[in-house]
Amino acid sequence: MRSVGILGTGAYLPEKRLTNADLEQMVDTSDEWITSRTGIKERRIAADHEASSDLAVHAARQALDKAGISAEQVDLIIVATVTPDMSFPATACLVQEQIGAHKAATFDLSAACTGFIYGISTATQFIATGSYKYALVIGVECLSRIVDWTDRNTCVLFGDGAGAAVLGPVKEGYGFQSFELGGDGSGKDLLKVEAGGSRLPASESTVANRMHSLFMNGREVFKFAVRMMTSASDEVLTKANLTMEDIDLFVPHQANLRIIEAAMKRYGLAAEKVVVNLDRYGNMSSASIPVALHEAIEEGRVSDGDTIVLCGFGGGLTWGATVLNW
Ligand code: ACO
Repeated sequence: MRSVGILGTGAYLPEKRLTNADLEQMVDTSDEWITSRTGIKERRIAADHEASSDLAVHAARQALDKAGISAEQVDLIIVATVTPDMSFPATACLVQEQIGAHKAATFDLSAACTGFIYGISTATQFIATGSYKYALVIGVECLSRIVDWTDRNTCVLFGDGAGAAVLGPVKEGYGFQSFELGGDGSGKDLLKVEAGGSRLPASESTVANRMHSLFMNGREVFKFAVRMMTSASDEVLTKANLTMEDIDLFVPHQANLRIIEAAMKRYGLAAEKVVVNLDRYGNMSSASIPVALHEAIEEGRVSDGDTIVLCGFGGGLTWGATVLNW
């Protein structure tokens, strides 16, 4: 099996900012409540003409550029998203056409906020076995399109964006050291968009009852998230024969600052070892981790030989983590 790592990353955030002050005009909330309960100050919202594939294409082009790989060299495109442009064709096909990755296999992956971790784990198997050489993994969401803007419990939490990574063979000892993936369908009702699929196709009543919008049992998801953030990280570190003390950078899913702080406390992690950008973007589901990683790289927080943990959790319920030698 050959070693597989990240060759380049990219990100795209729509221009429009929606601040907590803006939300105060829309629902019964306050900057104080949102900041103290979540850490979020503002989030980005896609323009009317932008869909997930448009955001993804920007991030993909940047990742290819950073990796020094042309679109023609890409063998596989995986788009992790819960907000595809449409049910089908896959958003990965739309991205493939736009960037001109003509020989790439293409599919979407649905694992909510854990989607990017599931995506890089899947792509790694193809590259490690020699089936493919280069893969483009994108986490992208236009969550603003499925948020109920009258529901203060959820609308303050989410944002739009895209993050991408080009994966390929790396020198032995570098790249992904271990993965941990998990799911628990018994939590399916804690976080969902109920209608629009084969069980409850769109109808006047599903629209009237707002069943095409995101529903979340925040308290239960919070407890699950705090538990999984550390158990998935513990699992992946054990598999790699490491402890959190060996880690140079921790890139958690950006759902709530209190969830991240709970993990920092448990591991005794200093702030400079943890990437946090949810204050600026909110929770972008599958895009959160790749955008956070990309920004950390761009800010010079990642050096050759660094050991990095990426860790996510989300609807499904799902969770996942990986250890990466940069
Ligand atoms: N502004 C003001 N008050 C609010 C708001 C708001 N925006 N939202 C809720 N409240 C109220 C509630 O109505 C409740 O009032 P009540 O006590 O009178 O009923 C009160 O604030 C407290 O609500 P809680 O749910 O207890 O608030 P909590 O401290 O748990 O914070 C939050 C809520 C932020 C949603 C938190 O539970 C959380 O972060 N959960 C996890 C979310 C998450 O991690 N999602 C990740 C996966 S996302 C994905 O996969 C797409």
